[in-house]
This record gives sequence, structure tokens and C-alpha cells, in this order.
Amino acid sequence: MGTTRRLLLHAIATAAAALRPGAPHARVLFCLGGPGAGKGTQCARLEHEFGWAHVSAGELLRAARAGGSEESRVIADCLDRGAIVPVAVTLRLLRRAIDEATRRGAPVVVVDGFPRNADNVEGWEADAATKGLDVRGVLFYDVPHDVLLQRIAVRGASGERDDDDAETARRRIRVYEEATRPIVDLYARRGALLSVRGEGDVEEVWRLTKEALAPLVGAQEGV
Ligand code: ADP
Ligand code: C5P
Ligand code: MG
Repeated sequence: MGTTRRLLLHAIATAAAALRPGAPHARVLFCLGGPGAGKGTQCARLEHEFGWAHVSAGELLRAARAGGSEESRVIADCLDRGAIVPVAVTLRLLRRAIDEATRRGAPVVVVDGFPRNADNVEGWEADAATKGLDVRGVLFYDVPHDVLLQRIAVRGASGERDDDDAETARRRIRVYEEATRPIVDLYARRGALLSVRGEGDVEEVWRLTKEALAPLVGAQEGV
């Protein structure tokens, strides 16, 4: 292992350990990118290698779509159309999952697929319960549309998800461009965007992810 890589890994691991479990301000990192950009794949890696918690808005919504309530019908309808669920619903699911992760002692909670539009941002910022959470930034995976579509087609072939058919995938990319891109730009203007070129293979993107996280880790370490 090269010296730079070892130092980087060490800095990240030390910072993760230094973020005390049960600290009053749970640390949150948002993760955004187009559908199929590799958010879930890289977040799983952060969970596995750094012990950070991975909370996926999409997964929580998919789990909540079952059942006969009015709310689950709203969720199912949005998921099937690739539309964004009203923030009150998503936020309630996220808050519970973030609370659980914090109680388990996760040093950082990575919130994947949120905030996806202006309604998500406004809902988060207006919510008293998120005031104690310290949002450290937005990890953003930048991937061209043709690569997104290829990856979704591969995932779609496994039958893992109902919304990976070609038509819904194109609709989700449109929603991403219209609703999520402006949010990515907003966080860039706030100086909170940690951008990663996500076109390469999983190992390459993981290397770039650690590089992108380095400034955040440096800030946490006070260096
Ligand atoms: P997202 O959570 O952003 O929708 P996923 O992590 O689920 O994306 O990845 C979408 C699909 O692409 C999955 O089948 C995954 O295995 C695959 N994948 C993820 N990252 C890469 C990569 N860097 N190169 C090739 N395929 C990838
Ligand atoms: O992130 P993921 O691809 O798993 O999201 C799948 C779907 O979940 C989105 O297309 C959208 O319908 C819904 N979603 C949402 N609000 C979020 C995140 C996901 O409505 N913040
Ligand atoms: Mg995902």
C-alpha cells in the first residue's frame, strides 16, 4: 500500500473514531447522484470499511410501500412514476433511521438519495428534529446519462427493482436533471459539495470517494 493511501486511510479512520458515539450533534453526510450513479454501492463501502451508517431514502420508501394505508399508496404511486414522495413522509422514515443509527453509535450517518428536490431541502431545514444534526456536506457522484442507463439496465436484469425498466429509468433521469441538479448546484454554492467522477469501475470510484472525503476529514481533525 502506498504511503499517501495509508495516510489517507489512517486519517479517515482516526476521524471516524474521533466522532464520539452518542455525541449530541449526530454527523450527517448527504449523498446524491443520478439514478444508477453508484450511490448505494459506495455507501455500502463506507459502511463496511469505516463503520459509517448507510441510510437510503429510496430503500426506506420501497420498504414502506407495502401495506394498505393511504400513505403507502402515495409512496407506491410516486415510486412507480419515478416521482419524488412528499417530504413529510420521507423525513419521518429518515428521522427514525438516523436516530437508530446514532443510538447504535455510528460516527457518521450517510443519507443516500436525499435531499432530492427543493421540497426535500425545505422540509429538512424547517424540521425542528433535524436541528441537532450536523450536515457535513454532500457527497456527489457525477456520471453521464449513457452510463446511468447502462448500469440501470444491468441492475434491471437482476429483477431487483420495479423501477429499473427503460421507460421509468429515463423518467427518473429527467426528474434528476430538473429537480435534483439544482440542489446539487445549491450545495456547490454553499461550498458543501464533495464531487466524485463516478464513471470508472467500482474500485476506481472508491479511490476517488476517499480522496473527495479527505477535506472533510481534515476539517474534522482540525488540520
Ligand atoms: P444508485 O444507488 O446510485 O442508484 P447503485 O449503487 O445501486 O446506484 O448502482 C447501480 C448499478 O450499477 C448496480 O447494479 C451496481 O452494481 C452497478 N455499479 C455501481 N457502481 C458501479 C461502477 N463504478 N461501475 C460499474 N457498475 C457499477
Ligand atoms: O435513490 P433511489 O434510486 O433508491 O430512489 C428510488 C425512488 O425513491 C425515486 O425514484 C423516488 O421515487 C423515491 N425517492 C423519493 N425521495 C427521495 C429519495 C427517493 O421520492 N428523497
Ligand atoms: Mg440506490
